[in-house]
Amino acid sequence: MSPIRVRLTVAGAAALALTTTFAMTNAHAVTPPRAVTTPHAAPADTTYTAAEVLAGVKKNSTAANQVNTKPHINTMTRAMNVNVYQVASGVYAYTSSMAIDDDGSDPDPDPDHQGDTTWHDSSGKALAAHHVPFYVLGDDCWDRKTPCPHFFYKEHGMSGRQFALMFYKGKVIGSIFGDTQTANNQTTSDNDSRELGEASVKAAQLLGIPSSGTTGGVDNGVTVVMFSGPSWVVNGTNANLNANAQAKVQQALDSLGAAMAGGTPPPNGNVFEAETGTLSAGGTFDSNHAGFTGTGFANTANAVGAYVDIPVTAAAAGTKTLSFRYSDGTTSARPATISVNGAAQSTLNFPTTANWDTWANVSVAVPLKAGANTIRVASTTAAGDANIDSVTVSP
Ligand code: GCU
Ligand code: CA
Repeated sequence: MSPIRVRLTVAGAAALALTTTFAMTNAHAVTPPRAVTTPHAAPADTTYTAAEVLAGVKKNSTAANQVNTKPHINTMTRAMNVNVYQVASGVYAYTSSMAIDDDGSDPDPDPDHQGDTTWHDSSGKALAAHHVPFYVLGDDCWDRKTPCPHFFYKEHGMSGRQFALMFYKGKVIGSIFGDTQTANNQTTSDNDSRELGEASVKAAQLLGIPSSGTTGGVDNGVTVVMFSGPSWVVNGTNANLNANAQAKVQQALDSLGAAMAGGTPPPNGNVFEAETGTLSAGGTFDSNHAGFTGTGFANTANAVGAYVDIPVTAAAAGTKTLSFRYSDGTTSARPATISVNGAAQSTLNFPTTANWDTWANVSVAVPLKAGANTIRVASTTAAGDANIDSVTVSP
């Protein structure tokens, strides 16, 4: 929870072996990393280097894509100058310091050391900061407002152990959301939920950043790129979470590289990817049919009532048009009931498309409240829902 200091005895060399090194002077680093003719339709086997992806992240870290309206605090320097950008659908990036968190690793000599972490491993144990590369986000919305003027993970389809790429000086690693900065209702620490720029001992080791609590950390230059949605939650225990996170690095580079090569990211705030949501039993978030946006689409079970819940936000209450991007490669329409925050609104037909790689839109007007809303698409037939890619909310 705090930038805690401890001298490490673990040798860095073995840890660094897992780190992918890349050239910062890559020739493809500036504009679309790969020539693709159709947005979002890059072949699944297209691979992207870390340098290409980091360059795309920087390029898309523009004022138009900024998620927060008030600045975050750099944990090490305390400067209020850190912003979060939506660099592709459901993918959020910031660049800040790395302060060192050693929570969850017992025994530990640091007087500030805390035995627990906000999020736990898959067997319910505190995440061990010496073994698991994790990053730290605010525990709540400091301003107590919805939507939050700062980046607040709960408003962006994120939960514990959410995958991120972390870049620093020519290296990239996989990391997970492991701990939070003090909430408003906690008075035991001088930390602040607006802080961004802290990560675990293990993350520092993997990136070649001094991981000592007293002299370690780095003031700037660490870029964290967070992938939202349940399909990017990393499971495992303290013994294997590091390996499980590193195993996702290339998949994340390829998926984000393809999304950014597709062109301009969707305008902040009104395109919501189905894969940031949740599915009823038997559903999966898939990426096996080309042309989806973001990192995949929702494939519900084939059953009456099978659904996907998609979190969306609205700046103000009012009647909005929801436009669903979907595919139905069968010969029958896939009608579904659209509900908002648990209240059924109407049934949409979702007519057939030429095949599963062809995407179409259907829309409906619904009332939304200001802030977070949940949109449910629930099948009225035994065929289940059409494959659902995203929902766009009108301004
Ligand atoms: C196929 C297709 C899926 C789709 C499913 C269905 O399996 O690959 O993407 O969801 O059919 O009929 O629902
Ligand atoms: Ca299906």
